[in-house]
Amino acid sequence: MKKDVNWLEMIQETALWIKNRVGGEMPKTAIILGTGLGELVTHIDIKESIPYKEIPNFPVSTVEGHSGRLIFGNLGSKYIMAMQGRFHYYEGYSMKQATFPVRVMKALGVKTLFVSNAAGGMNPEFKVGDLMIITDHINLFPDHPLRGVNYPELGPRFPAMNEAYSRRLIEKAREIARNENIRLMEGVYVGTQGPTFETPSEYRFFYRIGGDAVGMSTVPEVIVARHGGMEVFGMSVITDLGGEGIFVDVSHEEVQKAAALAEPIMSHVMQEIINQFEEL
Ligand code: HPA
Repeated sequence: MKKDVNWLEMIQETALWIKNRVGGEMPKTAIILGTGLGELVTHIDIKESIPYKEIPNFPVSTVEGHSGRLIFGNLGSKYIMAMQGRFHYYEGYSMKQATFPVRVMKALGVKTLFVSNAAGGMNPEFKVGDLMIITDHINLFPDHPLRGVNYPELGPRFPAMNEAYSRRLIEKAREIARNENIRLMEGVYVGTQGPTFETPSEYRFFYRIGGDAVGMSTVPEVIVARHGGMEVFGMSVITDLGGEGIFVDVSHEEVQKAAALAEPIMSHVMQEIINQFEEL
């Protein structure tokens, strides 16, 4: 197989372009904001906001509800970067394209990645508008972002996934929720390709194999982040329910509406976690 050195160069080129554009020290923490969750940005004291279409080698986001900007600024006491809008596999990007921004984050020196998404809940305890700490995931995407030549510069050939989601960050989130009386659910996120929402039987299947929520993103990004040795924390907003005996219609608009309602709490929890660790 031909060595895709171009790809390594593309990562470096994009990282350098961003460094030059933004200037100064690069943040150690990055956040990827999912469907309807871009409002976290209003809590950021923005230093620089770059539309994806201006960034060399970046794919351009197409889906509704994603403004597609890379943001640098302060969230509480910490300097962070945030992706407002992400690249989904169902949009037609390859896995490598969809996860390219995570490679660039790593090249910029990001050590910790926070991910958020909207997800359908299968766990019968969940309600619409609940927040779920992602404790683990099940990867059901038909392609894998690490398939093909492995570059040791980026990470190991066979990365471990036993702690895909950082236990210490999960513990911190639990502590914050306990102290502030926030209803925070926990569970396993099933990543599927979409773009169809699930049939009732698929929801039931995903619950039976150990999933609590299902969505069309996050898993590829987390795999790439872990490949690169980043620490990861993830949260889902439960925007609709699908499970045994639950038959409800779900639409993109409803997903966005439910996400917007839960968003302030999610922002608060993420900001608290970031502010409570010196190194983030
Ligand atoms: N399934 C898949 N993705 C989703 C869902 C769902 O029910 N809700 C929000 N994103």
